[in-house]
Amino acid sequence: MRAHPAGALHGDVAPLTHRQQPAPSDLAVIDPQIWPLGAGRVDGVLHLGGVDVRDVAQQHGTPAYVTVEDDFRARCRGYRAAFGDETDVYYAGKAFLSRAVVKWVADEGLSLEVFSGGELGIALSAGFSPGRVLMHGNNKSPAELDAALDAGVGRIVVDSDIEIARLAHAAELHGIRQKVLIRVTVGVEAHTHEFIATAHEDQKFGFSIASGAALEAARRVLMLPSLELVGLHSHIGSQIFDTAAFEVAAHRVVELLGTIRDALGVTLPELDLGGGIGIAYVPDDDPAEVPAVAKQLRAIVDRECAATGLPTPRLAVEPGRAIAGPGTVTLYEVGTIKNVDGIRTYVSVDGGMSDNIRTALYDADYTVTLASRASDAQPMLCRVVGKHCESGDVIVRDAWLPADLAPGDLLAVAATGAYCRSMASNYNAVLKPPVVAVSGGASRVIVRRETLDDLLALDEG
Ligand code: LLP
Repeated sequence: MRAHPAGALHGDVAPLTHRQQPAPSDLAVIDPQIWPLGAGRVDGVLHLGGVDVRDVAQQHGTPAYVTVEDDFRARCRGYRAAFGDETDVYYAGKAFLSRAVVKWVADEGLSLEVFSGGELGIALSAGFSPGRVLMHGNNKSPAELDAALDAGVGRIVVDSDIEIARLAHAAELHGIRQKVLIRVTVGVEAHTHEFIATAHEDQKFGFSIASGAALEAARRVLMLPSLELVGLHSHIGSQIFDTAAFEVAAHRVVELLGTIRDALGVTLPELDLGGGIGIAYVPDDDPAEVPAVAKQLRAIVDRECAATGLPTPRLAVEPGRAIAGPGTVTLYEVGTIKNVDGIRTYVSVDGGMSDNIRTALYDADYTVTLASRASDAQPMLCRVVGKHCESGDVIVRDAWLPADLAPGDLLAVAATGAYCRSMASNYNAVLKPPVVAVSGGASRVIVRRETLDDLLALDEG
């Protein structure tokens, strides 16, 4: 996923060059672009949210996701400030959702995007205002649609002809006029991993603008009295650095707003541009700054609307990774170290692809550091792997770590807040790690560690 040239880093730290052998002191660098807000070392030991990671390990065990609450909240506020009151910011819960997170999102004034009945259930059980929930899904089940209508979610994004009919019928039975947006495919090839690009024509999401399917969907929705068409939705993909793709997408959806006005006589008041802004996982990553993206998006929508003679619609965005990703670190304990002569050194930790599938799935790259002590040993190039029965069980493909690394050392992997816990599995009946929130020098478990009893509770024998 690292496909972009190195960019300037914040602060006065030198970038840790990923491919060339670093100096021993480089290994201790905590690059603020990659690590959570306020992360730093005290006598060589990583501190997160004012908490010594050795204390986290001792109190809560490893592996553990350690979430810096202030980081998550600051990013929510950053989005709100950058986009202003005239844009709705929906946190995309698929990145990571728990009841604590729902409360942080609510406190910081964001709305919430859910993709399933499960995510909706977490939001509701934390008391999130249903009117500020937007529901997505390319195959929402009738039960999920019912749950959304029962709850009174603010908006549902429709994704297929079958769903339009299904939702219209369900809304009628509920005696509701449901606000909907139509998910459109803008035909943009976003520069990201194939599995997380979503705006090219050949994929399962949305109605194609180019084929005319999106216009037809609008025509159909407008004819259904139980549905109120309020706007269009476009999400071009995830971990995107190149804002040009967003510009093309905005251009094409605004064009469609114009076509809908001309062909169907309706000016839609809302435009949701989805999520997708990338974050830095390694020093070479150079994501766009949120305020700059906000300014650019607004400018392009304003310009396109002016050119089409449309009022600027109310905008919405749906960041997930950019809010949840950078504030969390996964803490592992080193178990074994094996040197395969002349080939490479394998460092095995106590988690793996069950808590972070992204390396195996997307060839994602991560930054890892020795977190529990200082070391001035020479760097060794190694592969950080998990404990699963699979050779693809890799967490960091090529990592520089001190050559005196030993069993019992703690490793921290940065930027694991998005799509790690939420994509975790029980492969090998390995138990999912807890999520520990740290703030102001204190830690608290927001999602507890799974136990064997949790697994056995599902097993009917
Ligand atoms: N809105 C919609 C409709 C989406 O489908 C997504 C992500 C988002 C918002 C949030 O995108 P974000 O800001 O987080 O990039 N599992 C993959 C990412 C899949 C993203 C799916 N949709 C990964 O680990 O990279």
